[in-house]
Amino acid sequence: MIEITNLTKKFGEQIALDDINLHFKKGEKSLIIGQNGAGKSTLMKSILGEYLPNTGSVKINGINPLKDRKKALKNIAFVPQTPPPIKLTLSEMVEFVTKSCEISPTKIDEFSKFLEFNLKANLNKPFFKLSGGMKQKFLIAIAYARDCSILMFDEPTANLDPKAREIFKELLANSQGKTAVFISHRVSEMGGLINRVIEMDLAKVVKDEKVV
Ligand SMILES: Nc1ncnc2c1ncn2[C@@H]1O[C@H](COP(=O)(O)OP(=O)(O)OP(=O)(O)O)[C@@H](O)[C@H]1O
Ligand SMILES: [Mg+2]
Repeated sequence: MIEITNLTKKFGEQIALDDINLHFKKGEKSLIIGQNGAGKSTLMKSILGEYLPNTGSVKINGINPLKDRKKALKNIAFVPQTPPPIKLTLSEMVEFVTKSCEISPTKIDEFSKFLEFNLKANLNKPFFKLSGGMKQKFLIAIAYARDCSILMFDEPTANLDPKAREIFKELLANSQGKTAVFISHRVSEMGGLINRVIEMDLAKVVKDEKVV
């Protein structure tokens, strides 16, 4: 599903990814852990084709996201670590997403309700004015509404309150057939929901284990 081969990414002299080789298979639920600055978010952004690597390549279902980003990302629902400062209102975002991803606005509404995010009351608010947790809930609702075969979440629960975290876990538990890659510092929280743990340190993969 996702094939990463000899991937190296430097920012100036700084090596953020050092010869990474990983294969994420269909249905696998992987958790990427590692200290701050280890390269986790850079890896995820590289998978999404946001960075041009120094060496190596990424293929998503055989497609290089740098060559055909739209096609490669069609089946990936992504929630970033830091939500982008989008000026559109939620209503405009819903319209954009439903048009570009061909999904029904009702789906976004359903998942927002499930996450206890009051979309209706916030429709006229610009996205950047939402609270941190509200942003995350709305982006998670969009990600699930898209019903993609691959989920990629970078610290999706960082701003969620304890109740919302439990609801998020419930969503994950119900996504059996999907391939998922999460980044989280909260390993214990993901217990029972993942079957692989990858640890990164200083730009390298230092551990890659199956868990039951
Ligand atoms: N756009 C960028 N420009 C320059 N350096 C960057 C950029 N993005 C990341 N880096 C550097 O690459 C290294 C890895 O950063 P990255 O964000 O991937 O870490 P991380 O593992 O996600 O950390 P955290 O747990 O804090 O989120 C860091 O030293 C960071 O400063
Ligand atoms: Mg990060």
